[in-house]
Formats: sequence, C-alpha cells, structure tokens
Amino acid sequence: MKAVIANDHGAVDLAARIVRHLKERGIDVTYLGTDKEESVDYPDKAEECVNEYRKGGYDFGVLLCGTGIGISISANKMKGIRCALPQTRYSAEMTKRHNDANFIAFGGRVEYSEDPVEILDAYIDATFEGGRHERRISKMMALEGR
Ligand code: RB5
Repeated sequence: MKAVIANDHGAVDLAARIVRHLKERGIDVTYLGTDKEESVDYPDKAEECVNEYRKGGYDFGVLLCGTGIGISISANKMKGIRCALPQTRYSAEMTKRHNDANFIAFGGRVEYSEDPVEILDAYIDATFEGGRHERRISKMMALEGR
C-alpha cells in the first residue's frame, strides 16, 4: 500500500505519529510536512497533497490540521476527492465501505474519544462494498461544480 500525507502546524505531533504508524504497518509513505511549528495555510497543504495523490499509485491520502475541518473541506473542493473526517472507528470503516473515501482527515488539536491511529486503521482495513454504493457515489461526484 502507498499513502500520501500532509498537515499544517496544528497537527505536527499527530502527523509524525501517523507517519510512524503507517511505516510500521509496511505502508509506503510520502510525507509532505510540515514538521515545523511555523504557521502554514491548510488549503496549500491540501492542494499539495491532492496534487501528489493525482500523480497516481496511491491507495489513500491523510490530511491533518488543528481540527481536520479546514483541510478536509479544502481537499473536498478538488475534483475526484472524497475526504472523510471520522471521529470513531465505526465511521472510519463505513466511509471506506460505503463512500469509498480516498482521503481521511484528522485534527491534531481534537480530543478524540477513540485513538486516531485506531480510527485510521479501521479505515485502512475496510473494503469498499461497491453495488448500490457505486450509484450513490456517482451521484455525489456529479454534484462537483454545481
Ligand atoms: C490553524 O490555526 C487552524 O485554523 C487549522 O489548523 C485548522 O484547525 C482549520 O480548520
């Protein structure tokens, strides 16, 4: 598996933890930073990460900012991106099974009631179910640009 990951200054520690975890799982990681506390704008990191993903060969992308909200909204403005922001293992699993989310976002300043690394694992370990969900995703993606 191959993943691309980027974050703003609001999620430096969580991003480092996630990169370490992905590598421990044997996943090939392209890390785009930032690994510094200096302020960077989350839409810029979202764009950089999606552009890298679009080069091809990636199974999924991970985006992080303080809340995960700004960076996920930014990514979802780009064509073909379905970036989920799950708060639980259940919703992470379901967003792969039903929405075929190709990006997952987290907040470095959020107090999760479940470990975000376990939430990420639930997403990675799930499989898209296809079938009726294909139709719904086609309709979802047809909303782009409207
Ligand atoms: C940056 O201060 C913060 O606004 C950003 O990390 C994120 O939480 C935005 O949604």
